[in-house]
Amino acid sequence: MAIKTLNEKFHHGLGDIYDAEHLFLEAQQEMLPQAQNPQLQKLIEQHIKQTEQQIATIEQAFKALGAEPKRVKCLGANGIVTENRKTLKEVSSNPALVDLAIAGGSSKVEHYEVSCYRALVQIAEQTGQAKVAKLLQKNLAQEEQTASKVEASMPKLLQQAIKSEQGQSAPAATKAATQGSRATADAQSRTSTKSAGGAKKTFAKGAGGSQASSEASDRMIGDGDSGAEQGTNE
Ligand SMILES: [Fe+2]
Ligand SMILES: [Fe+2]
Repeated sequence: MAIKTLNEKFHHGLGDIYDAEHLFLEAQQEMLPQAQNPQLQKLIEQHIKQTEQQIATIEQAFKALGAEPKRVKCLGANGIVTENRKTLKEVSSNPALVDLAIAGGSSKVEHYEVSCYRALVQIAEQTGQAKVAKLLQKNLAQEEQTASKVEASMPKLLQQAIKSEQGQSAPAATKAATQGSRATADAQSRTSTKSAGGAKKTFAKGAGGSQASSEASDRMIGDGDSGAEQGTNE
């Protein structure tokens, strides 16, 4: 359908995110039983409740505009959800990778939502629809907060995946020693992350794999995330 006015575009965008929220709600309900990490489970549980509220909040926004809530097929949300489902299937044999895939997929979802709500809030504000802007701002704040929490969970999930692979590849004689010195390995891993910089590009086997993966962690988490990494619930 052709969109000819800003008002029509705004209604279309609202219908898009209304559809997206329904798709993301279903996706989270699917992911929850697959998540192994208790913090990740809690985060998804909390956000399922928030998403239900967000759907109701969008309905209030439609009402404030004098319109009926209407889902407009959101191809963007559909694509992200389809991609996440595919990835989860592909990593299903490795629980550590499943958690990482859930967090990575959730991060894509939350950033997509943040982008949609920011655009809608701006239009609502600049066209004098203060009540609608306030309602959508509420959803935006929840998405921004969830995006931050998901990102903060990633370094630890990444460390779990690294440890899991080290445990699988270590010879039987050294496996017990490796497990017995996990704290030391953590410290070494953190040290190698800090000292490696961007120079080491070889994806070496064994302990070298930890360095390469730590560099990947650096790229994902950026600076200032060491606090999240230190938090452990093992
Ligand atoms: Fe949402
Ligand atoms: Fe969300």
